Amino acid sequence: MRPISVAIDGPAGAGKSTVARQVAEHLHLTYVDTGAMYRAVTFEALRLDVDVTDEGAVARLAKHMDIALKPSKGEVDVFVNGRQVTRDIRTPEVTSHVSAVAGNPQVRKILVKKQREMGKNGGVVMDGRDIGTHVLPDAELKVFLTASIDERAQRRYEELVRKGYRVDWDQLKEEIRLRDEKDQNRKHSPLKPAEDAIHLDTTGRSVPEVVQAILELSRTKVGGG
Ligand code: DC
Repeated sequence: MRPISVAIDGPAGAGKSTVARQVAEHLHLTYVDTGAMYRAVTFEALRLDVDVTDEGAVARLAKHMDIALKPSKGEVDVFVNGRQVTRDIRTPEVTSHVSAVAGNPQVRKILVKKQREMGKNGGVVMDGRDIGTHVLPDAELKVFLTASIDERAQRRYEELVRKGYRVDWDQLKEEIRLRDEKDQNRKHSPLKPAEDAIHLDTTGRSVPEVVQAILELSRTKVGGG
């Protein structure tokens, strides 16, 4: 029997990647972090001094990039052309430029093709913004994760402080609000729930609770798990 696919979409900081990774572990599926792919292209453009708003130039870069996601010690390591960029793609600089790259239709086409290739035999938990609507429209289970903006800002704040960055809470919250706005209003594949997605609000809920809720859904909806 073909293994199931799970699509997890939602706004920045809703807890998608932590939850998706753990769901994948429990169900013995492969976790695919599609945001990391948009970040990898952004990082490479900044590193090579390619203007992130130059659609053609960034698309050429994306087309010739080999992006690999490799699970390691409960995390996922990201490689670009064999070079490890796991930490480099999470810097505030990459975060502040990634919306331009994610809004580039040519880049989206290239990355969506790679993502569909990764999911073509099922067996993946993929997280992003357009997975249930566009990348894997036939996924057996689609979850749309949300959380209040204050809670999402607080989670990002704690994550950045843990990594040693100095951050201003209000500024961080404003950046998240702006990124949501850009993700929701962009012309190509905007962030929106698939019609058949199940909405889960993670505000005030712990990661294990949310993971359990999704595992439960995978059992009731598809008889898997
Ligand atoms: O989930 P993240 O913060 O790592 O995503 C980085 C950016 O990439 C974010 O601004 C939204 C965008 N993105 C997207 O447009 N489509 C996806 N499937 C995944 C991420």
